[in-house]
Amino acid sequence: MLNMAMVVTATLVIFLFCSPSSVAILLNKLQLPAPVTGPESLAFDRDGGGPYVSSSDGRIFKYIGPNDGFKEYAYTSPNRNKKVCDGLGDFSAIQATCGRPLGLGFNHQTGDLYVADAYFGLVKIGPDGGNVTQLVGPEQANTTRFADGLDVDPDTGIVYFTVASTNFQLKDFQTLLNSGDNSGSLLKYDPSTNQTTVLLKNLEVPSGVAVSRDGSFVLVSEYLANRIQRVWLKGPRANSSELFTVVAGRPDNIKRNSRGQFWISVNSIVGPPRFPRRSTLPAGVRVTENGLVLQIVSLAGEYGTEPASEVQEYNGTLYGGSLFADYATIFSP
Ligand SMILES: *[C@@H]1O[C@H](CO)[C@@H](O)[C@H](O)[C@H]1NC(C)=O
Ligand SMILES: *[C@@H]1O[C@H](CO)[C@@H](O)[C@H](O)[C@H]1NC(C)=O
Ligand SMILES: *[C@@H]1O[C@H](CO)[C@@H](O)[C@H](O)[C@H]1NC(C)=O
Ligand SMILES: *[C@@H]1O[C@H](CO)[C@@H](O)[C@H](O)[C@H]1NC(C)=O
Ligand SMILES: *[C@@H]1O[C@H](CO)[C@@H](O)[C@H](O)[C@H]1NC(C)=O
Repeated sequence: MLNMAMVVTATLVIFLFCSPSSVAILLNKLQLPAPVTGPESLAFDRDGGGPYVSSSDGRIFKYIGPNDGFKEYAYTSPNRNKKVCDGLGDFSAIQATCGRPLGLGFNHQTGDLYVADAYFGLVKIGPDGGNVTQLVGPEQANTTRFADGLDVDPDTGIVYFTVASTNFQLKDFQTLLNSGDNSGSLLKYDPSTNQTTVLLKNLEVPSGVAVSRDGSFVLVSEYLANRIQRVWLKGPRANSSELFTVVAGRPDNIKRNSRGQFWISVNSIVGPPRFPRRSTLPAGVRVTENGLVLQIVSLAGEYGTEPASEVQEYNGTLYGGSLFADYATIFSP
């Protein structure tokens, strides 16, 4: 007998494969300074500059243009040693002192860049770059171990961020993915009061977060559970959560576009049962505020079988980020 979850999943798989889908055309690879890797997320400043990307050696780089490429903008560790840290790869224990920025988001009113750092928690960087303030550190009851996804409400400046796990750190990434861990959480930081609140607990590796255009709800992806949950922030359902959508793969970052829709990066897409081979390719999935799938774009040409961690639409252009690649991408659907 089919249980309800299986029916829902099967329906969504069929729906996914019936939606308008295409293979992305790679327009440009934005190469990080070697040997740095892992532009896991991207952000743009209030003047349209960027993309800014997070990286494996603890630095945040800003893309200047085709001639100058990426230039160092800031870092998250309060005592970062350039000699030890510059060029450091991912999943090293040394990242605990060098920092590992993952989620990025600007407050366009203040120009501050907020960062979810896997070792330093929630960090703020001043508009000039360089000035680092740790806002919610990992010492606070373990709650910010392995901070991961981040979004800033453009109207209120409230920061939503995730803690992927309190049991595992980024260096234990492979173990975490096979663990069935559900110690993750979704948190809210209000800069006007300096207060941090937990919105949702017991999440299975919450990797991405995005607030809705009107600030009435926030979405959080659970990488190990193949689903996105919605937490209502305003209105009659405020403070309650519900299933937003189930995806046919591992959902990572979620990014809102200017029309209020969301791009979800989905990895290890499982093909329909009669497909000769299971595809494990990354894709970008665009959904409405109601979770309706509008478009699926395969990122196989950009990332092969490596996971993509983010798809972001900015100025009508699509950008891609990945924890494993040494470049960010610009592509057309
Ligand atoms: C986005 O568009 C604005 C306005 O046209 C422009 O100033 C800015 O440079 C653009 N940014 C990027 C990254 O394309
Ligand atoms: C760094 O931030 C602190 C606190 O916001 C501020 O007082 C200080 O002037 C800033 N320093 C620089 C160099 O911008
Ligand atoms: C906010 O919290 C941080 C970390 O605990 C602290 O350093 C800072 O002084 C606080 N700021 C305000 C305005 O309370
Ligand atoms: C933090 O986590 C570690 C490892 O899981 C545990 O040993 C320690 O007791 C925790 N500390 C607090 C304050 O919960
Ligand atoms: C939601 O929680 C906040 C803070 O606890 C409270 O002020 C508000 O009244 C709650 N809203 C609803 C609709 O329950």
